[in-house]
Amino acid sequence: MSGDRRPIGIFDSGVGGLTVLVELRKRLPGESFIYFGDTGRVPYGIKGKETVTRYSIEIVNHLVVSHDVKALVVACNTASALAFSDLKKIYRIPLYDVVTPAVERALKATKNGRVGVIGTRSTISSGAYRDALRLRNGKVRVYQQACPLFVPLVEEGWVENEVTRMVASEYLSPLVAQRIDTLILGCTHYPFLIPVLKQFLGPSVQVIDSASSVAEEVASSLTSHGMKAKRRRGRVKYLVTDDPERFAEFARERVGEVVEEIERVSL
Ligand code: DGL
Repeated sequence: MSGDRRPIGIFDSGVGGLTVLVELRKRLPGESFIYFGDTGRVPYGIKGKETVTRYSIEIVNHLVVSHDVKALVVACNTASALAFSDLKKIYRIPLYDVVTPAVERALKATKNGRVGVIGTRSTISSGAYRDALRLRNGKVRVYQQACPLFVPLVEEGWVENEVTRMVASEYLSPLVAQRIDTLILGCTHYPFLIPVLKQFLGPSVQVIDSASSVAEEVASSLTSHGMKAKRRRGRVKYLVTDDPERFAEFARERVGEVVEEIERVSL
């Protein structure tokens, strides 16, 4: 048993990437992960390309130089939309973004060709999802909606209450009016809101989350490149740029994750 035992790096602005980590660990139990949550600088979704790219490069540099990660998952749609092409130019290790796998799954799922996309302001205004969908299928109709209040609600742990239901109804009503049959959750914080979103959308709209889509892609790519670690159970180390206690509490409450190794770092 050995294989490539180096950890996989994964980063997000905060807790959103935990939804990706959970899906990755289900499919790749033998891998170790270094999760970087930039909790001191969250949210990214209201920041511009230059800032998000600078933050992303700082984080990836840290993960590559100090932790020798063998691959890296950008578990943040905002960073995937704004910084991924620059990251690809700099780093030689396999890099995975969350936009592409979700787009491919949505195109397979839609029957009426009307796809909704929700995300942070920066992700939506970058047009990354719209362009990626249209590039693969020129006939698809894309309806986008920025949902800036969702990230603070999730970070606050308000995932299933009346306020969240009202906000969801405001954001989703225009998409439902367009008769979408598929909705891409274009932000890794949003899978925490799936019960509320599904309650509003009903069974006629399929919800595609980027977390499980990218996890499938990473698992099959590591296998085909012979890069999987051959061990029974890997470990997770967490790095955050603000209060580790708060992060660990969220992880425990929301994804049932017992955080054993966590460190505050400054970049
Ligand atoms: N979870 C992130 C995303 O997928 C970013 C949220 C934020 O920091 O605004 O876009």
